[in-house]
Amino acid sequence: MNQRVVLVVNGQSKTLDLTSEASLLQVLRNDFLLNSPKYGCGLGECGSCTVLVDGQATRSCVVPATQVEQRRITTLEGLSFAGAIHPIQQAFIEQQAAQCGYCLSGMIMMTVSLLMRNPNPELEQIKNELSGNLCRCGTHIEILRAVKRAIELCSSSSPDDLFKPLTCDLN
Ligand code: FES
Ligand code: FES
Repeated sequence: MNQRVVLVVNGQSKTLDLTSEASLLQVLRNDFLLNSPKYGCGLGECGSCTVLVDGQATRSCVVPATQVEQRRITTLEGLSFAGAIHPIQQAFIEQQAAQCGYCLSGMIMMTVSLLMRNPNPELEQIKNELSGNLCRCGTHIEILRAVKRAIELCSSSSPDDLFKPLTCDLN
C-alpha cells in the first residue's frame, strides 16, 4: 500500500505516494530527477549513493524514503554556495580527483560531512572516514589531495556560511 509523504530535498519539497520499499536513492533519482547519487552496490557498502540527511552522511540506497519525511536532505546538486560551486567541489576539480567520476558525489558528500564535524582533520581521520567509499578507478591518492585542498579552501570561510544552509531548521 502506498503512503503519502512530503520530502524536502535541496530546499525543494514534493508530496509523493510511495511504497514502503522505495529507497531514498530511487526517489531522488526518479522523482526529484537528481543524478548525482549513484546506484553502486545497493547494499550500503560502496558509498556511491551517499547524501546528507540533516547533515549526516547517509547511504540512500538502504534508507526507505518514507522514513525521511520532513528531514533536510541534501545531494551534491544542493551544495551550491552563494551562486557558485561549493569550495569542496572546487577542490576536487582542482586536484582532478576523478576518472569515471562514478564515486565522486559520494566522496564529496562524505567530505562535507567530515568537515562539518572537524574543519581540520588529520590524514588518518580523512582516510578512516572515506574508507567505506569505494573508487573502482583507484583515484584514492587524488581524492585525498582534494580533501586536503578542500580544508585549505574552506578555512577562509566561516563554517556557518559553508555548512549552516545544509543543516538549519526547515521552518
Ligand atoms: S549504492 Fe548505496 S552504498 Fe552502494
Ligand atoms: S573515479 Fe571511477 S569509481 Fe572513482
